[in-house]
Amino acid sequence: MSEVFVVFPPAINNGVIYGRNSFSFCCKEILFFSPNDGTVKCQSTDIPKESNTFGYILNGTCGANDQKISISTLFADNKPAEGLSALDLTKLALERSDSAEKAVEVISTLIDKYNKDESVDISPKYAFFICDIKEAYVMNIVGKLWAAERITEGCRAFGKGFAVTTKIDKKSQELEDKLKEIALFDGSSELNFSQTFSMEVAEIKWPNDEPVSGFSAQKMFEVLRSSAECSETIASSFVSVLKESVAVHWFTGTPDPRESVFKPFIFTNDARISTLTALKEDDETPLRKLHENRKWDQVGELLKSLEKSCVDEIDGYVENAPTDELNELLKDCVEAEVKFYR
Ligand SMILES: *[C@@H]1O[C@H](CO)[C@@H](O)[C@H](O)[C@H]1NC(C)=O
Ligand SMILES: *[C@@H]1O[C@H](CO)[C@@H](O)[C@H](O)[C@H]1NC(C)=O
Repeated sequence: MSEVFVVFPPAINNGVIYGRNSFSFCCKEILFFSPNDGTVKCQSTDIPKESNTFGYILNGTCGANDQKISISTLFADNKPAEGLSALDLTKLALERSDSAEKAVEVISTLIDKYNKDESVDISPKYAFFICDIKEAYVMNIVGKLWAAERITEGCRAFGKGFAVTTKIDKKSQELEDKLKEIALFDGSSELNFSQTFSMEVAEIKWPNDEPVSGFSAQKMFEVLRSSAECSETIASSFVSVLKESVAVHWFTGTPDPRESVFKPFIFTNDARISTLTALKEDDETPLRKLHENRKWDQVGELLKSLEKSCVDEIDGYVENAPTDELNELLKDCVEAEVKFYR
C-alpha cells in the first residue's frame, strides 16, 4: 500500500520522476535479482520459470528493473488463497517487462490465468502504478477484470485505493459485457470503473504547489517528506528518475522520509547491494535497527547535506561514468549512513 507522485514534462525536461511513500511494513528488505535469476517461488501459486528475465530491485511491493520500468502497488486487498498476490505480480512484471505497456500485458495475462473469478465480492482487488520513461499506467484489478488509464503528461498523485474512472485506455476483454452479466453495469451511462466496484477514488492532492518547471529528484524527496506530515506512518520511500540516458533509483530503506536519507541505486552489469538492507533472523534489517538509534537533531542536517551532494554528483557523473564504479553505489551509501547512527 502506498502513495505515488509522478511528474512528466513539461515540469521536467525529459523522462519521468516518480516517488512513492509506502505504508506497509511487509517484506522489510531491499532485494536485488540479477538478470536471468528468474522467478522466484510465488507466495501461493508456482509459475513456470522463464529464462532471460530482467534484473530488478525491490523494496516491498514496489521496485524497478534494468529496463527503466518502475512498479508500485497502490492498493491490495483480499490476499487470494489461490492466485497471485500483489507482491508476486510486481516481481513477475518486473522480471518480464521492457516497457510499461508490456507490464500491463504481463499482469493481465497472469491474472487471467491464475486468478479466480468466481464472484466479484471475494475476488482480490489490486491497484498498480506502472511507469517507464515515456508513460505511466494506473491499473485497477478485480479478479480477472481490469481497467487502466494511461498518463503521458503533467503531474498526478495517487493514494491507496482505485483511481481508474471513465478514462479507460486499456481493459480486460469484453469488460462491459462481463460487467453486464454480473449486473454491475447497465450500459446506460459511461463506465466508471472505480464506481462500479464501489471504490472511492484515491487521487490525492499534491502536498505543496503542483510542480510547473525545473522539477528534480531532490524536489521529489521534499514532496515525499511534506506528504509524510499528514500521512500515517511511512515504512519507506522510493524515488525513480527515469531518463533515456540513465535511470537512478533512490531508496530510504528506513521509515519516515523526514528523518531518512535517500540513497541511489543504478543497474550495472555487476550491481551489488549491502547486507545491511537484508533481513536478519529478528526480522529487521541492520539499517533499520541502527536507524532507530538516530539522534536526528544532531545528525539530520549533515545527512541531508550529504544526500544533496550525492544528488549533485550523480547528476554530473552517471552519464559518462565507468559502470564498475557504480556497482556498489547503494551499498557504499548505506554503509556511510549507518556510521552516523552508531
Ligand atoms: C524497505 O526496506 C527497508 C529496509 O531495507 C524496510 O525498513 C522497509 O520496511 C521496506 N519497505 C517495505 C514496504 O517493505
Ligand atoms: C467515478 O466514480 C467515483 C466514485 O467511485 C466518483 O468519485 C467520480 O467522480 C466518478 N468519475 C467520473 C468521471 O464520473
